[in-house]
Amino acid sequence: MRHFLTLKDFTKEEILEIISIGLEIKKNLKDKVYKKELDMQTLGMIFEKSSTRTRVSFEAGMFQLGGHALFLSNRDIHLGRGEPVKDTARVISSMCDMVMIRTFAHSMLEEFAEYSSVPVINGLTDSYHPIQLLADYMTMLEYDIAEDAVVAYVGDGNNMTHSWLMLAAKMGFELRIATPVGYEVDSKILEEALSLAKESGACIKVSNSIDEALLDATIVTTDTWASMGQEDEKEERVKAFQGYMVDGLKMCLAKKGARFLHCLPAYRGYEVSDALLEAHADIVFDEAENRLHAQKGLMVWLDKQRT
Ligand code: CP
Ligand code: NVA
Repeated sequence: MRHFLTLKDFTKEEILEIISIGLEIKKNLKDKVYKKELDMQTLGMIFEKSSTRTRVSFEAGMFQLGGHALFLSNRDIHLGRGEPVKDTARVISSMCDMVMIRTFAHSMLEEFAEYSSVPVINGLTDSYHPIQLLADYMTMLEYDIAEDAVVAYVGDGNNMTHSWLMLAAKMGFELRIATPVGYEVDSKILEEALSLAKESGACIKVSNSIDEALLDATIVTTDTWASMGQEDEKEERVKAFQGYMVDGLKMCLAKKGARFLHCLPAYRGYEVSDALLEAHADIVFDEAENRLHAQKGLMVWLDKQRT
């Protein structure tokens, strides 16, 4: 049995296999071919933070695969009232076939996985957001921009940045990250990614220079300046991130025809200009839709790993 906690635990071949299952299911869905690959299975979804894409994609995805998804808000289950994580894990995994968790500390997810008898999927933690990167890489493949990709990430060194680090390190593409001083990526995660990059040949550069990151990049991406749980820091972060908004002018530094990706939700006028997001709405909303397809690929793949 495998869990999906970070991309670090997966090989390049496994990541490509998950995406390819997702792409096949996507094609089947468009052709109105429904295979009930997870017939009668239940996915428990624990949400300790808000969500639009993650909730809808898992819930719709599980239904389309013949299963059922349970939305479990921490306001409604005893986890939010202090029932230990390990007890919750043992109980929910005895009744569900898979569990998805969106939470704060990554260690909570790890503890849950340790006590769970079924596969656990990371639906976002403070440290990583790996399911988003499955959809992002699927989109890169579909738009034929994965090969020789030079990805520039401009913004906060957060869960998305850490997942980009792991994706680049596994798939072997060039990743340049530019963050404001004081908002750099976690140094331990960077070290791990750099060590994995030695095997894949990925080139990873981290700096505080937007120009350095963007120059001749083929893909530009960013994320919110204040992630969920950082609402109180918003004012101070907006000040620190001045000059970091990705707009048409900054895109001029990137390679001609460079594409823009965003995991969404986007805060127009902060990390991205409205005009830039609208100019790249085709790929950004395909990226969002691919959450559905990539995660179906993941759930079917995880189901196949059970012994
Ligand atoms: N990108 C993403 O995970 O979106 P939600 O927060 O809406 O799930
Ligand atoms: N970094 C963001 C990602 C949202 C999908 C957050 O954690 O809020």
